[in-house]
Amino acid sequence: MVIAQSNTRLSSDRSLDRDCTTLSRHVLGQLKSFGPNAQDLSALMNRIALAGKLIARRLSQSGLVDNALGFTGETNVQGEAVKKMDIYANDVFISVFEQSGLVCRLASEEMEKPYYIPENCPLGRYTLLYDPVDGSSNLDVNLMVGSIFSIRQQEGNDELGDAQDLLQSGHKQIGAGYILYGPSTMLVYSIGRGVHAFTLDPSLGEFILSHENIVIPKHGSIYSVNEGNFCQWDTSMQEYVRYVHRTEGYSARYSGALVSDFHRILFQGGVFLYPGTQSKPSGKLRLLYEAAPLAFLADQAGGRASDGTQPILDVIPDHLHGRTPLIIGSSDDVALVQSFVKS
Ligand code: AHG
Ligand code: MN
Ligand code: MN
Repeated sequence: MVIAQSNTRLSSDRSLDRDCTTLSRHVLGQLKSFGPNAQDLSALMNRIALAGKLIARRLSQSGLVDNALGFTGETNVQGEAVKKMDIYANDVFISVFEQSGLVCRLASEEMEKPYYIPENCPLGRYTLLYDPVDGSSNLDVNLMVGSIFSIRQQEGNDELGDAQDLLQSGHKQIGAGYILYGPSTMLVYSIGRGVHAFTLDPSLGEFILSHENIVIPKHGSIYSVNEGNFCQWDTSMQEYVRYVHRTEGYSARYSGALVSDFHRILFQGGVFLYPGTQSKPSGKLRLLYEAAPLAFLADQAGGRASDGTQPILDVIPDHLHGRTPLIIGSSDDVALVQSFVKS
């Protein structure tokens, strides 16, 4: 029998090292620090991961549990019908951050005003913005949904509670990402040092690093847009889609969940579009909870995101729940769409 020397490591230890990078360890590695800021960000990401695990668990059982699916009968501040799962997921994020000492305020598309956690504020220097369930029309038919998050530094006390400090560009984000509830649950994040994906290992209950430093291909064959709105778009967008139809090598993919369509494009390239329509000139997607966080990821992965005239990260919201047209994905494909807008 071979007994390992005390100063050598068994090969199984080394494979553990290689195969089991957890999210919190990855954040510390990214920041190359064990200082208070790094510890806070690592703990914050860990809490987001916990929210993701709780939501994933609920989703996986939703067909079997009373009152998990369907509408609540309420409409949210966006005027959209609210689903029970929207409320469940919204509350999960609140409950994992209460008593965390990490986040002073949470803002979500399901809440008219930010949710304050006053007891955290002396310490909690961050605001978390989130879309608790993205793609909620997919919920009742067991299709792909996700959660999107964005982390900003808390600026000042916001004594009036009007969240004026959040009406700043997407460059103010210090981190962003999403959780995708698919065949595996995946968490994709960036804290400004590349984009990294983690896959939930249900046997460990941990998100384990599965794809590091993801780079969006410069060009891809996918175009992802709700063509049911074709007659509602302006002519430049119609011209672009006509170009795609007559050009060989394009494939349409559209799932009804931005997170899921973006995820495909992040890995395989292509472009996702949600242009303005006649009835909704700013489109449907929300700048602070959807477009800006995904633009942060696209930028970090070497892709691009635009509202048609300027980079999404430069857009300053006029109110908390403001919307924006979105063109996001491979840099060449976004540039091509923009060239139609300009001409
Ligand atoms: P949410 O479920 O958070 O309201 O977001 C739905 C969004 C987005 O995920 C998706 O790309 C888009 O709405 C789909 O809208 P259409 O049904 O108009 O295509
Ligand atoms: Mn959404
Ligand atoms: Mn939503």
